[in-house]
Amino acid sequence: MSVRGVLRLGEMQIRVLDMAAAKQHYGTRMGLHEMMTDDDGLVYYKAWAEQDHHSIVLRESDSSGLDHLAFKVYNDATLDELEKGIIDFGIAVEKIEAGIYPKSGRRLKFTLPTGHEMHLYAEKVQVGNSMGTLNPGVLPDEGIVRGFRINGLDHCFIVGPNAKQNLKLFTEVFDFNFTERVCDPDGNELLMFVSCSSRAHDIAFGENPEPGLLHHASFRLENTQDHVHAADLIGKYSIPVEMNDRHGVTQVKTVYYFDPSGNRNEVFVDGYLYYPDSPLLTWTIDNLAHAAFSQSLRVPESFLGTYT
Ligand SMILES: [Fe+2]
Repeated sequence: MSVRGVLRLGEMQIRVLDMAAAKQHYGTRMGLHEMMTDDDGLVYYKAWAEQDHHSIVLRESDSSGLDHLAFKVYNDATLDELEKGIIDFGIAVEKIEAGIYPKSGRRLKFTLPTGHEMHLYAEKVQVGNSMGTLNPGVLPDEGIVRGFRINGLDHCFIVGPNAKQNLKLFTEVFDFNFTERVCDPDGNELLMFVSCSSRAHDIAFGENPEPGLLHHASFRLENTQDHVHAADLIGKYSIPVEMNDRHGVTQVKTVYYFDPSGNRNEVFVDGYLYYPDSPLLTWTIDNLAHAAFSQSLRVPESFLGTYT
């Protein structure tokens, strides 16, 4: 498989209650690189290894949560193809001109069946990862990889009503692969994981009566040593931890923690390689402990019911 079409989760705009506290969390402690502040006070970050200008945008608000999520697609023609598919699916699409979102080409903006604002875009200013493209070596200069040593924004988990319609949109229109699911005793999907890459998921959906909620934003680490290092820093800074365990679903080694506004973050490492001929994996809800946290077999109540 070559990735042409939807490439990756390229951006999340997250609402925070206190920008100073959020900048300490995402910048100083997690080690994301602050790229700019716009005229409205939104603050833009990238992980060191990302080539594009930013992947996380923070907006101060009186409520926490997710303003929008945005996937980057291969090229402008892909946007035209997907626009038609979204409209045929029955979802209205707003066309946003280039430059309205800073450093970004034109976007398609629409609302997912779960109530989340989603964008698709093909262009964002590339600033590189500091290593250049000619004889780049394997490591950036000292000080570039810092904090939690996060390589990049990876995926998000969103919850809302009509989650199965999200599944249908992503698999039938966006050409994602359905990789794993957690089902009730009647076989109805409660949690759904889909992939547009060789990873086990690029986004996940959960059924929930209230629309537009964020379960977590997830960041990718390089290796197990970095995972231990990140967990040590989470402890050093007394950042609230929900779990440090391994998921049965996707097989990633994970740490869940909260930003100062109560938004759930995850850092993870590992997980299996997914290919389009990989079989759909099914977990039953009576086996949720193995599906969710396969080392401790303990699922905190907060993990199933705390969203922003
Ligand atoms: Fe995750």
